[in-house]
Amino acid sequence: MSPPPSVRVTQEDAPLPRVRPVEAHDVEALLGVFARAFLDDPFVGWVVRGGAGREQRAHAYFDLMLRRVSLARGGAFTTSELAGVSAWVPPGAWPPSVGAQVAMLPQTLSFVGFARLGVVSEGAELMELQRPREPHWHLALLGVEPHAQRRGVGAALLADGLARADADGLVAHVETSVAANVPFYERAGFRRTHQLVLPGEGPMVWTLQRAPRAR
Ligand SMILES: CC(C)(COP(=O)(O)OP(=O)(O)OC[C@H]1O[C@@H](n2cnc3c(N)ncnc32)[C@H](O)[C@@H]1OP(=O)(O)O)[C@@H](O)C(=O)NCCC(=O)NCCS
Repeated sequence: MSPPPSVRVTQEDAPLPRVRPVEAHDVEALLGVFARAFLDDPFVGWVVRGGAGREQRAHAYFDLMLRRVSLARGGAFTTSELAGVSAWVPPGAWPPSVGAQVAMLPQTLSFVGFARLGVVSEGAELMELQRPREPHWHLALLGVEPHAQRRGVGAALLADGLARADADGLVAHVETSVAANVPFYERAGFRRTHQLVLPGEGPMVWTLQRAPRAR
């Protein structure tokens, strides 16, 4: 997923990407960014049922997370050329109310599948237990176009969200199923809090938290 060393552009060479809120007309293009960024992601491969039609089901998952969970609550951000996208869940917005969960159930079923709903719900609850008890900013998804990775886009989107958490004086929380992402988050000030294996032959997940910094 990284460019070869010969074409590598470092953060020193390239201007820092400008981060801005996602607008409704960006969403379809950004769902494509998530699809390409998370093509091989172990967690997405666990949540989204495989086989024929997997691409459409992954689209439904990213749509739920970006449009309904994050954008609807003012937590979605992108860069000027739509090279990357962050889907944050602001404090107080999670877990969703019972009514909101019921409203999201048909879409959730469309990508999880009825047969795996129990095991995925069990895993989601295990991850839920590792969330901070206090109000916090949760980074649900962060994705950068594969051809634009390792150029500072992800770090810029992360820093933008962390500045918001710092301004609120709140903890930031994230989970990842990719070991190589752990140092990326640690460099931004996150510390590992837990490590768990998701049920149903699911992947290993690392949970990380970052305390707010004084401004
Ligand atoms: C993780 C991700 C968001 C990082 O965004 P990015 O724009 O590539 O990252 P940046 O260029 O800002 O920062 C790069 C640094 O992060 C770390 N890093 C990022 N991806 C890495 C990888 N695959 N392997 C090792 N280190 C990685 C490195 O420390 C790297 O610094 P370096 O290039 O000097 O070695 C991006 O690679 C991505 O979309 N990955 C696929 C989806 C994903 O796993 N998302 C996060 C889970 S929610």
